[in-house]
Amino acid sequence: MNKLPVLLFIASGCVSGFASAQSGKELFGTYCSGCHGANAEGIEGLAPSLHNPQLWSKLGDKRNQYIAGVVTSGLSGKLVSLDKTYQGFAMPPQSFISSQDLVQITHYVLEDVNQQQGGPDQALIDEYKKKPFTHSELHQLRKGG
Ligand code: HEC
Repeated sequence: MNKLPVLLFIASGCVSGFASAQSGKELFGTYCSGCHGANAEGIEGLAPSLHNPQLWSKLGDKRNQYIAGVVTSGLSGKLVSLDKTYQGFAMPPQSFISSQDLVQITHYVLEDVNQQQGGPDQALIDEYKKKPFTHSELHQLRKGG
């Protein structure tokens, strides 16, 4: 019997298995770039730039809580970012995305886009999915409160 077709089948299964593990950048492209731009640079009048090292360094050790809070709870209300005001468009909660993928996406935003260390872990994202923040709590957190 010719075993080649079986081997090819197994090999192609492996290849597609690798391909399904997407990087944070790819996941960002799928889920976030429609509003935040292909490179997280923001879209004026719609959604702020996520390249904002001042914000992320000002947040310090609250950074992980804030980004995990926004992706799991969404955000609305007036937001001033890099001297531009965003108001009227709400970000819907992204909690339909798996926690594993949200870890990848948030690490991409903090580490690759902003050169900040770290990012939330899966346990934190899971916790916030169960108990989302209110949007005013997130605005407080953003102000450093
Ligand atoms: C449907 C459009 C939309 C999508 C999709 C979206 N966002 Fe947003 N995002 C917004 C808007 C609008 C705001 C500002 C909300 C406000 O005015 O309060 C925002 C705000 C944010 C903020 C807060 C920025 C700051 O300066 O405080 C972060 C962080 C963020 N989004 C990350 C993400 C990530 C990561 C994804 C993908 C998982 C994502 N967003 C998907 C529209 C979107």
